Amino acid sequence: MRIVIALGAALAGLSVIGAGAVTTYAQMDKHSRYEGTAAAVVDDKGNLHVPPDYRTAYQVLGSWAVAKDDGPGSKQLHVVYASPGTIAAYRKDGHFPDGAVLVKEVFDTTTNDMTTGTVSSAGTLAGWFVMVKDSTGRFPGNKLWGDGWGWSWFDAADPQKTTSTDYTADCQSCHEPARQSDWIYTHGYPVLKQ
Ligand code: HEC
Repeated sequence: MRIVIALGAALAGLSVIGAGAVTTYAQMDKHSRYEGTAAAVVDDKGNLHVPPDYRTAYQVLGSWAVAKDDGPGSKQLHVVYASPGTIAAYRKDGHFPDGAVLVKEVFDTTTNDMTTGTVSSAGTLAGWFVMVKDSTGRFPGNKLWGDGWGWSWFDAADPQKTTSTDYTADCQSCHEPARQSDWIYTHGYPVLKQ
């Protein structure tokens, strides 16, 4: 019995390694974590795209409801996802790990009377904001990278190609209030708290 368990553990370890040399979880450095998660989202020039499988492979970080200017209910719902491992890493040391990917869906809403009250729910998807954590300054000449992140917006019609051109103009001033928390509005995500 003891042997079977040990063998099982060894095989579980091996499946992580693939065909490469002997590596353990502890030895996987920041670089390889970036390669694993973010490489699927970033091409070699630093262009981002929306990860195709985020709804099933990522974890939900939290959501925001933007109130209508007049009348009850919300005009938009924002649902934020994080790539696998991001939440666990943040809960450990309070930082987004290199290669972490955040996806924010922006929905227009429909508002209806339901048995709970006046309720707004996700309607048409307007598009996505995507951010990729970059601790090493990988794309110094690319205007969509800086302050430790890659930044881009995607219209719903084209998850492959951003319409953003410069994060300092398109994103940064709006995220200024969250500068102290690495530009992320972390207070809206209970799952990041211990
Ligand atoms: C009009 C102001 C505004 C602009 C412009 C803006 N953001 Fe945000 N962003 C926010 C606010 C406020 C939140 C959190 C509350 C919400 O979603 O309503 C947020 C949340 C996010 C989130 C979820 C993680 C977090 O910080 O809580 C991502 C990802 C994001 N923004 C990316 C971007 C990117 C990339 C750009 C530029 C392409 C951008 N944003 C431009 C205001 C803005």
